[in-house]
This record gives sequence, C-alpha cells and structure tokens, in this order.
Amino acid sequence: MTYRSLVGFLLLVSALLLAGCDSNESPTLPPEEEEPPPSDTTGTGDPPSDTLRVLADERGIEFGTAVAADPLMTNDTYAEVLAREFNAVTPENAMKWSPLRPSRDEFTFADADSIVAFAARHDMSVRGHTLVWHRQLPNWLTEGDWSREELITILETHIQTVINHYEEEYPGQITKWDVVNEAIVDGGGRRNNIWQETIGDEYVAIAFRAAEEATDSDAKLYYNDYGIAGGGSKADGVYEMVSGLVENDVPIDGVGFQSHLSTQYGAPSDQVLADEMGRYEELGLNVAITELDVRIPLGDDGEPSEEQLSQQADYYTRFLNNCLFAENCTEFRAWGFTDAYSWVPDEFDGEGAALIFDENYEPKPAYDALIETLKN
Ligand code: XIL
Repeated sequence: MTYRSLVGFLLLVSALLLAGCDSNESPTLPPEEEEPPPSDTTGTGDPPSDTLRVLADERGIEFGTAVAADPLMTNDTYAEVLAREFNAVTPENAMKWSPLRPSRDEFTFADADSIVAFAARHDMSVRGHTLVWHRQLPNWLTEGDWSREELITILETHIQTVINHYEEEYPGQITKWDVVNEAIVDGGGRRNNIWQETIGDEYVAIAFRAAEEATDSDAKLYYNDYGIAGGGSKADGVYEMVSGLVENDVPIDGVGFQSHLSTQYGAPSDQVLADEMGRYEELGLNVAITELDVRIPLGDDGEPSEEQLSQQADYYTRFLNNCLFAENCTEFRAWGFTDAYSWVPDEFDGEGAALIFDENYEPKPAYDALIETLKN
C-alpha cells in the first residue's frame, strides 16, 4: 500500500467511524492509488527526461540538496521539484541538536523523520547532518555546568541514539554522516566551543569513534567544514587535523567541502580545487561537495544581473566538474534549491539569489549549466 493510499484509507476509516457507520456494512475501500507520475514540465505529455536527477543517476553520482521540513510538508511544488531533480537530500536543520534534543533525556525525531521518510519513498539517499557542531545547540546543553566526563557521556549518548534511531526506523537510508562540523577556525587552529573547552582536542576523535561504534551499516563518516576548497591556512588546518585522525586510526571516511560561495569573493580555480581534493585522496579519503550555494550581492531592486547569474552558473559548474573529475568525489550537494527557501538573506546582509531555481521555481542559468555539465 502506498503512503497516499494509506492516508486515504485512514481518512476514510475515521470518516466512517465519525458517521457512526453500521458495522455490518463492509466499507468500500478506495481503489489502490498509484504514485502520481513525475510532473510534466515539457508540455508534451511526456515525463521530463533530462532532469538533473536523471542525468546524475546515469553518471552514478549523488546529486543532492539541503531540505527544510516545513516547506516539504506544506508546499507541493517544493516537494515535486525536489523529487524530480535530486537523488539525495540533507536535512537542513532538523537533525541538529536544538530541534532534535529539547532536553537531556528527550529526543524529538518527527521533523527529521518526515524528511528521511520522504527520501525513502522517493528513493533518495540521506546525509545525516550533523552530530557535533557549535551552533544550534539547546540551552540546557550550553548553560549546563558539565564535567569533562559528563559532556563525553552526553555526546556519546547523542551519537548512539540518533544513529540507532535511523538504522532501526529507516535501514540503509542514511549513507553518510557529518560527524563533526566546523571544528577549525580561519587561522587553522581549533575553534573554541563547548566541546573544545570542556573535552579538549580529543572530542573530534571521540565523536568519530562513537559513530563507528553505533553504526551497523556501512554509512560513511565525514568531517565537514566551510572555506576549505580554495586552500589557505584554514584548509591546511583541516588537512592537518584530518591527517592526524587517519594516523591515529580514527574511523573517518571523508571530508565535506561545504562551499558557501559569493560572486563578490570569487571561487577557487580548477587547479586549486583539484589539489585540495587530491590531497585527501592520497590519505585514502573521499571528499564531497556538501553545501554549495553561490550568493549574489543584490542592488536596490533585489534582482541579480545577467552577468552575476552567469558568474554564479560558472561557479556551480566548476564545483560539479571538479567533483566529476576527482576519483574520490562522488557526491555533489547544494544548500537548498529554490531562492524561496534559502538561509542566505537571513545570514548575509544584502546578499541572496544563491540557488539554482528562483523564488518561483523557475530554473536559473546555473540550472541549465549543470544540466549541460552532467550531459557532457
Ligand atoms: C544553516 C541553515 O541553513 C540555517 O537555516 C540555520 O539558521 C543555520 O544553519 N554550515 C552548515 C549548515 O553546516 O548546517 C548551516 O545551515 C550553514 C553553514
């Protein structure tokens, strides 16, 4: 029974119960409803053939996007475009500590589950994001006066509970975990956060070991950070930390390059990108583009210029191309897909229009350019 027909059936049963139906009369069940065919954007009556998803499947790469639980549940167009264009998702916020763990002993999985269930119904893989970070932490955690041992226990319990929940409820659905997010600052050293201050450098290894111990699947474990695709002291700091983990047999499988770009700051060259990806290959690790978006400084009319849009298209395709070329990169994810739902305007003053569909779900030049890149 499909999800839609199950919902239909439950609605019918409750309507019959409310109407006090005669129990001798067997209710007529609605006919099995088929999953709707993919929506037709060609106007010819045929399902679309060259979507990003179709082309990414052909090339055998994960082509994904961050997904917010709210629009997924309430906006049909959002859900339709998502399932049509992508074969992979990352919950944008729903798996972070604050939404997931309102108190030390309470886990609320509903929003994150709705995303993972959608992915399961539409045959999309999921990147679990994120088990350890310094942002979006609940007050009970940040305001607590924890000893080192207590905080390690809280952290390990979190990692075990979240991974076990998904492996039990949605086996095989989460294929990657962002285990630790953004542990390094621009200068290349460790970020001072609750984990670092209370546990010390070792928290990163502790988290990876807890994740490895919790998982019974072959889900891959990643370190994920921004500002590391273009070289420099932060990229070197991350590389140094990750090399240390590998040397010490800490179970890490890959490094996520978040890749939040802006047309006003430029993008790394192909050579630099290839070098940054390549040095992890030499360590035996995968890389992934995990959160690509290309924000644009907007003028008074709030509209990007043609030139900015073509620069944006160039950055998107450069990252995809480099991932396709790199032996150890099989995963390309954007941080959202429609400008109607993007973190950029809230986070970066005066910038926006960072994604590949506009606010009305019309494809932008970056969309067409990605299609061409996947085709060639
Ligand atoms: C962002 C979300 O998009 C926002 O909605 C939220 O307010 C803050 O976090 N790096 C990450 C992501 O790893 O989790 C962040 O997501 C963007 C930067």
